Amino acid sequence: MQIWPHKHIHTLASFSIEDYKTVFELANRFDALKNAGTKKIPALQGNLVTSLFFEASTRTKNSFELAAKRLSADVQTFAPSSSSLTKGETIIDTAITYSAMGADTLVIRHSSSYITFEIAKKLDAINSKTSVLNAGDGLHSHPSQGLLDIYTLIKFFSKRSLRPEVLNSKKILIIGDVNHSRVARSNLWALSAFGAEIILCGPKTLVPDEFDNFLKTPSPNQIEDPVKSRGSITISRSLEESIKIADAIIVLRLQKERMMENLLSSIDSYSLDYGLTPEKLSLNSKKIPVLHPGPINRGIEISSKIVDEYPNCLINNQVANGIPIRMALLYLLSKYKK
Ligand code: CP
Repeated sequence: MQIWPHKHIHTLASFSIEDYKTVFELANRFDALKNAGTKKIPALQGNLVTSLFFEASTRTKNSFELAAKRLSADVQTFAPSSSSLTKGETIIDTAITYSAMGADTLVIRHSSSYITFEIAKKLDAINSKTSVLNAGDGLHSHPSQGLLDIYTLIKFFSKRSLRPEVLNSKKILIIGDVNHSRVARSNLWALSAFGAEIILCGPKTLVPDEFDNFLKTPSPNQIEDPVKSRGSITISRSLEESIKIADAIIVLRLQKERMMENLLSSIDSYSLDYGLTPEKLSLNSKKIPVLHPGPINRGIEISSKIVDEYPNCLINNQVANGIPIRMALLYLLSKYKK
């Protein structure tokens, strides 16, 4: 295997096609091992993975911790409410403290966009060997979710062996609150890297017109795009018309506070226009896959009938695929030449 080129993982904007393929191939190998009955391997014995979640999480936190355990790493968890943050310690000093304890990787979730860049910069400045892995920062990025989402789609569309190229020219419809979604931003980088034609659908307040320029927005400190040719982004206001032409759908969670911010007239009218129901889904003649990063609001952005009964609803596949993807990320960071 090639040497992994990233000490820290902040955003998929910096991933090359080779980086994606390395992650997917490794995740596929971990998956195959698990399916053959080998759930735990000694790959990261002696390695310390510390999860620093300053924001709530069910899926990401637990699957990173499980992924670390499956690789035989030691896992250290952190609860903000009982930590020295309550005595005024800063987040940066908290990260430095865990690095000094010997953390090989800090898996960090925080409500501030770009905070992982700041933490990594500070750690690098003191010659720390600790890697930083972004598990969701503000509205900016959620790279492991973006990776597991497209891994799930690639597995669905690949007939036999895993072929990321199957996403080329596929029309992937993303519905909902794109503007406040770090998951959507990571999906845009990942899907476009493999030539997908992405359709963003929602009201202007949640999917502003400027999003068709998103792929031209550079990431902090990034000079050039490592992907030579990307797919496209278009914006649609009609869910029905978009569903008719889609090859796959990713539904985003509606954050109810958006109504208080006057971005929506009511939750009911949002659901009527943009909630995914079996009736709307039946406008597409194929049994297209439906994904949602979770947590879901049943009956708001997606109906229970789709979640519970639609055969190609892949929400639980996404959760399951998160484990080998996160195993691959933790393993690869350990291969960065420290
Ligand atoms: N998809 C996602 O990030 O879920 P959690 O908030 O439960 O981690």
